[in-house]
Amino acid sequence: MKLFAFCCILSCLSVAVGQITWHQLGTSEYYIHDGTKVNYQAAVSACALLNATLARVKTTQVQQFLVQKINNTTANYYIGLDRINPTPTGFQWNDGTNLTADESQFGVTLDNSGGNENCVHLRHESQYKWNDISCGTTMKYICERHADIIVNGSFAKVVSSTYNSYTILDVMYKMCFDAAPYKVEASARMLDESLPYRFNVITTVVQPHFFRIKLERVDIYSGWSPSEIKISWKAYFNTAVQIY
Ligand SMILES: *[C@@H]1O[C@H](CO)[C@@H](O)[C@H](O)[C@H]1NC(C)=O
Ligand SMILES: *[C@@H]1O[C@H](CO)[C@@H](O)[C@H](O)[C@H]1NC(C)=O
Ligand SMILES: *[C@@H]1O[C@H](CO)[C@@H](O)[C@H](O)[C@H]1NC(C)=O
Ligand SMILES: *[C@@H]1O[C@H](CO)[C@@H](O)[C@H](O)[C@H]1NC(C)=O
Ligand SMILES: *[C@@H]1O[C@H](CO)[C@@H](O)[C@H](O)[C@H]1NC(C)=O
Repeated sequence: MKLFAFCCILSCLSVAVGQITWHQLGTSEYYIHDGTKVNYQAAVSACALLNATLARVKTTQVQQFLVQKINNTTANYYIGLDRINPTPTGFQWNDGTNLTADESQFGVTLDNSGGNENCVHLRHESQYKWNDISCGTTMKYICERHADIIVNGSFAKVVSSTYNSYTILDVMYKMCFDAAPYKVEASARMLDESLPYRFNVITTVVQPHFFRIKLERVDIYSGWSPSEIKISWKAYFNTAVQIY
């Protein structure tokens, strides 16, 4: 019985994760949580589960974008700003930078009322300007992560495999940055589609400007004579890369 409950929780969670919508602005993407209200620590953990962090709202553009996406719900939302010093302006972003005077324009009541208001949220009652509040208060939250850069390419090549049902191919590509993709997906098909050959493609090595794939014939367990094969690939980069 216990095991069953555990499995249900896991599969429900993965369904929920699959349905998340990320809103992109520039090189960041934002998720506006719309579930059970949680305290600040739980909001931090929930974003971490999505490989994200609570959102940093440092510009008018980001503030307005989030307000637009929130679309006038009656909810409050934690952001990635908390107090490191009891003075009214003693706040730090979760990227380690201190709150600046410019950024604090969105904070109407960062007053540390009662001396225990160490977390910051977008407050519905103030048109989503910021308020400081006790970190134990439960509410929704906004997560932020880097948007992906996705690059695709394709090429045709004469490939054969005399003895094995698979062969290894190295693919070099040019890019205006030196980061390695965090994932490469590839597929392969015969240029002559009348041939029955079918391939499975597995990426085995991923480096900057280079990846290696294992091209495996799957229609039958066999090698094949020299044939022109079209390989299509898609590389996923985190936008934290330095472009030159
Ligand atoms: C988070 O990143 C890890 C490691 O890169 C990855 O295995 C995992 O699938 C990611 N989780 C989500 C929800 O994207
Ligand atoms: C915003 O909310 C209004 C009223 O609830 C709704 O009609 C509209 O479709 C929403 N817009 C978006 C983009 O979700
Ligand atoms: C948002 O909703 C409130 C009622 O919940 C309403 O009074 C207010 O005018 C709405 N604001 C906008 C910008 O639609
Ligand atoms: C950030 O603020 C803290 C305390 O308010 C201060 O001690 C620290 O020097 C500040 N850091 C920077 C880089 O200004
Ligand atoms: C890259 O993907 C786009 C959109 O899916 C497609 O139109 C284009 O042909 C692809 N480019 C290559 C080189 O495969």
